[in-house]
Amino acid sequence: MQNCIPNNWVEILLEWFHKNKRSLPWRIDRTPYKVWISEIMLQQTRVTAVVSYYQRFIAQFPTVEFLAAASLEDVYKLWEGLGYYSRAKNLYLAAHTIVEKYHGVFPDTPTEILQLPGIGDYTTGAIMSIAFNKPFPAIDGNVLRLMSRLTNDFTDVKTTQFTRKVKESLQKIYPIKQARDFTEALMEFGSLVCVPVQPNCGECPLKEQCAGYLSGNQNVLPIKKTKAKSVVVKMSVAIIECCEKV
Ligand code: ADE
Repeated sequence: MQNCIPNNWVEILLEWFHKNKRSLPWRIDRTPYKVWISEIMLQQTRVTAVVSYYQRFIAQFPTVEFLAAASLEDVYKLWEGLGYYSRAKNLYLAAHTIVEKYHGVFPDTPTEILQLPGIGDYTTGAIMSIAFNKPFPAIDGNVLRLMSRLTNDFTDVKTTQFTRKVKESLQKIYPIKQARDFTEALMEFGSLVCVPVQPNCGECPLKEQCAGYLSGNQNVLPIKKTKAKSVVVKMSVAIIECCEKV
């Protein structure tokens, strides 16, 4: 990262997480199947909205075999109201792959997970770390915002350059035995403390380590450049053809 990250923030964040984590249904039993379902539901959807959908989904499809044996219509019915229906279709397709290709056992390598329908870098990192407790970051908007403030980095957080930078710096410090908690702690901290507008810096346990806060930039960061608006120019054009010439 642009500025080096203070070295004891990982322990402070984990301690904060252990004291402050919300009790959420997908945190009871972190099997790969349940982590996968919850992470797909949580994309573009608020935690509070996901809770009851997740509970109904798991009650009806407790394992990947139940999901693969269902009809797509049944899956859509449970998804009604959540939106982005391609997520439901991809879950269904991936369930078939897991049952047919992996005999119902969720694959445990990033390469195999990434090949499943509807799964990208973020979800692969979330499953590898939360379900398998392996040191793989899952970088979402919460994590990008937290890292840009913590390191006082003015790079546009929407760029792949910034995501890559965050990924590389997190990979170096992932706590090997607490990978699962660290991934969830980063997300939780971004949702509850290091929030997008008016972050709660007064109560933040990382304020002494946060280069953004120490520089007074907590309300400026993260940087999100908006694309320059295109200007509409009205004009008339005429093509003149004459004597076989244009
Ligand atoms: N947002 C995305 N994944 C999450 C998780 N596992 N817990 C809480 N919020 C999340």
